[in-house]
Amino acid sequence: MSDSEDDDIPQLSSHALAALQEFYAEQKQSTIPGRDDKYNVGVIEENWQLSQFWYSQDTALRLAQEAIAAAGEGGRIACVSAPSVYQKLRELHREDISVYIFEYDRRFAIYGEEFVFYDYNNPLDLPGRIPEHSFDIVVADPPYLSEECLRKTSETVRFLTRGKVLLCTGAVMEEQATQLLGVKMCKFIPEHSRNLANEFRCYTNYDSGLDYET
Ligand SMILES: C[S@@+](CC[C@H](N)C(=O)[O-])C[C@H]1O[C@@H](n2cnc3c(N)ncnc32)[C@H](O)[C@@H]1O
Repeated sequence: MSDSEDDDIPQLSSHALAALQEFYAEQKQSTIPGRDDKYNVGVIEENWQLSQFWYSQDTALRLAQEAIAAAGEGGRIACVSAPSVYQKLRELHREDISVYIFEYDRRFAIYGEEFVFYDYNNPLDLPGRIPEHSFDIVVADPPYLSEECLRKTSETVRFLTRGKVLLCTGAVMEEQATQLLGVKMCKFIPEHSRNLANEFRCYTNYDSGLDYET
């Protein structure tokens, strides 16, 4: 082999080579199951026995963004029976905000310290590390469309919040939601990953971005 044959092989500039290496590194990163996979909405499968119906990706994102805007910089967000919002918040890498997931399903204990076991039947049975009125906003989606479930969940929500509430539940719960939490129905209509028979709505007790189109 002569030097002249080597000279015929096309050479990349050092700049182009660096860009190519960076591209391959990014590709590799996105295909390796990384730490973020556990925050994918739907990574934990719906269990209909527990009334689990996950939001669509778009709805989870919209609710997470609304919670961030409402909580403010360095804010604290409680997701009560709304695990997809918690997952989306963590997927967004908002390390500056504190987020807790209050859930009955212990599969969500994979989220460590941020998981708080919660049963709406015992609304104030919460661990000591969760002080009263310690969250800037509480996002809640009670498991059942009943007055009892909404009333008990509302007790938890009032205990946790410093003021702001974002509730997702059936359109049929509007009157009770207003009575219990002083919320009003928003224009935004939440969607689920599967079509549900019941009409769902979002309600807030403050002037929220969910009343505006994006
Ligand atoms: C209608 S789903 C709301 C989920 C929401 N759409 C989401 O995607 O995050 C109701 C939630 O309540 C939880 N749940 C079921 N039984 C419960 C109980 N006894 N106390 C509190 N939460 C409960 C379910 O695990 C589920 O996450």
